[in-house]
Amino acid sequence: TAPAQLRNFSIIAHIDHGKSTLADRMLQITGVVDQRAMRAQYLDRMDIERERGITIKSQAVRMPWAVDGVQHALNMIDTPGHVDFTYEVSRSLAACEGAVLLVDASQGIEAQTLANLYLAMEGDLEIVPVLNKIDLPAAQPEKYAEELAGLVGCDPADVLRVSGKTGEGVSELLDRIVARVPAPVGDPDAPARAMIFDSVYDTYRGVVTYVRVVDGRLEPRQKIAMMSTKATHELLEIGVSSPEPAPSKGLGVGEVGYLITGVKDVRQSRVGDTVTGAQRPATQDLGGYRDPKPMVFSGLFPIDGSEYPVLRDALDRLKLNDAALQYEPETSVALGFGFRVGFLGLLHLEIVRERLEREFDLDLIATAPSVVYEVRMDDGDVVTVTNPSEFPEGKVKEVREPVVKATVLAPSDFIGAVMELCQSRRGELQGMDYLSPERVELRYTLPLAEIVFDFFDQLKSRTRGYASLDYEPTGDQAADLVKVDVLLQGEKVDAFSAIVHKDKAYPYGLMMAGRLQKLIPRQQFEVPVQAAIGARVIARETVRAIRKDVLSKCYGGDITRKRKLLEKQKEGKKRMKMVGRVEVPQEAFIAALSSD
Ligand code: GTP
Repeated sequence: TAPAQLRNFSIIAHIDHGKSTLADRMLQITGVVDQRAMRAQYLDRMDIERERGITIKSQAVRMPWAVDGVQHALNMIDTPGHVDFTYEVSRSLAACEGAVLLVDASQGIEAQTLANLYLAMEGDLEIVPVLNKIDLPAAQPEKYAEELAGLVGCDPADVLRVSGKTGEGVSELLDRIVARVPAPVGDPDAPARAMIFDSVYDTYRGVVTYVRVVDGRLEPRQKIAMMSTKATHELLEIGVSSPEPAPSKGLGVGEVGYLITGVKDVRQSRVGDTVTGAQRPATQDLGGYRDPKPMVFSGLFPIDGSEYPVLRDALDRLKLNDAALQYEPETSVALGFGFRVGFLGLLHLEIVRERLEREFDLDLIATAPSVVYEVRMDDGDVVTVTNPSEFPEGKVKEVREPVVKATVLAPSDFIGAVMELCQSRRGELQGMDYLSPERVELRYTLPLAEIVFDFFDQLKSRTRGYASLDYEPTGDQAADLVKVDVLLQGEKVDAFSAIVHKDKAYPYGLMMAGRLQKLIPRQQFEVPVQAAIGARVIARETVRAIRKDVLSKCYGGDITRKRKLLEKQKEGKKRMKMVGRVEVPQEAFIAALSSD
């Protein structure tokens, strides 16, 4: 297709505002998926995505659409919808000339929509504002058209109204995309340059890489090079998805499609990288490439220690499809053998954990998520700490922690509640804007560690579910942070060490000591449970001693009951962990980690 007849666009929407439903309707109206073959939510591939209704990986679909007798090809590039995947969103948007800004007509704009809209505006994309779900009785199209128009800078009458569910307004939207979104421009004679905006591992075909061609042309059998690594591969197949993959004779300027080179690991074909021809390589890459950087770390341990090899193999498998996943073996006194795993954020952590449990049938325990600290020592050493129990001993000059720029959208009635929460989490107000008289946007800088620690739940409960949150990393700051250890009879329990702000060390210590005191069974001797900063004890509880004779409870008599008790005790022993001289059932550690 000639560039003049191409349109590349994304849909920007908050979770649940109906992006997948609208995308499905477009596939149907353009005839690329017939009604019978239409599975609900064609574009969401993974089960977890479908069940939770979230989109993790982006993908592109090509749809034919004729306007005034001229055939066009529309490439719809799906963007992931969650904060953890901002970088992938930015690459998907970079592959487009336009973006449909989709807003639920009964909800209005949310923080996520806003964040992605800003990304699209930074990329100079043409914004097509659309209200969805106009079939809903609760829809308020007039009100939200105002809001949207104010944000985008257009007339409220230019805000399209559609229903992905009934299909109303969807053909008009396709017409509007052709009319408003600019056609791609590029140099067909220049050395080939294409940007990777997604890369997916497929069991049968190896890695499938989605690209947008900017200049030149890519053809099958050609040797290509990845500009970030200089690695070369042969192009085994190149084609477009509509939505099933269809091989083609090549992709030219402005075209969007997939390519297959036989590589087996998404790390060899990275989102954001530039693909060029190996024979006549481009000198300048397309820019914007960034290594995925894990922001949150957690220890993952199999509850049954014998499943460690299964966990290792499972992580190796997931890694093929997830360039951001990092891990290394970790041993914990309390939890045994496991892995320290790095994630882009909390949702990423949750997704990986759930896939491990579901697809690989593992029962896992995860330690409290920790951010990455930079510890500067008096002697000039700089130590990167992803695991609180590895906080360096010795004279610390400064501890630096990651900071994020957070945007909270909330009904104006809740401004006080939001501010109070942000302040209690060491937030600094950067600005505040009213989107409408009832809705306000609050901008804060906050330590990432504070967000990782149940911030979102707190925000939701303090605003009765009405606030939405988005954040992105902005750098780091020095902070008054200390490591709090938890000790049983003087022995550190590594899984419970935490790096916390000085002002929160005492409450944290008290809480953990209290929790463990309740969970640890009595021993034959007294067990002090302490929380300490270095050598200074800040909280103490005691587990009293008992004579540990399980039979003392049954006064003679019933022999079967006696035997049962003995067996139970034996079973319990298998799962006992020794911390110094103290025997602790693994369940106690698990309970202490999971209760909140
Ligand atoms: P994520 O993939 O999580 O970002 O969600 P999404 O934006 O793709 O939303 P999805 O298409 O899954 O729709 C969310 C819910 O809204 C589903 O229950 C849909 O059935 C419903 N929905 C979507 N579009 C419409 C619509 O036009 N009208 C009505 N009444 N419901 C809709």
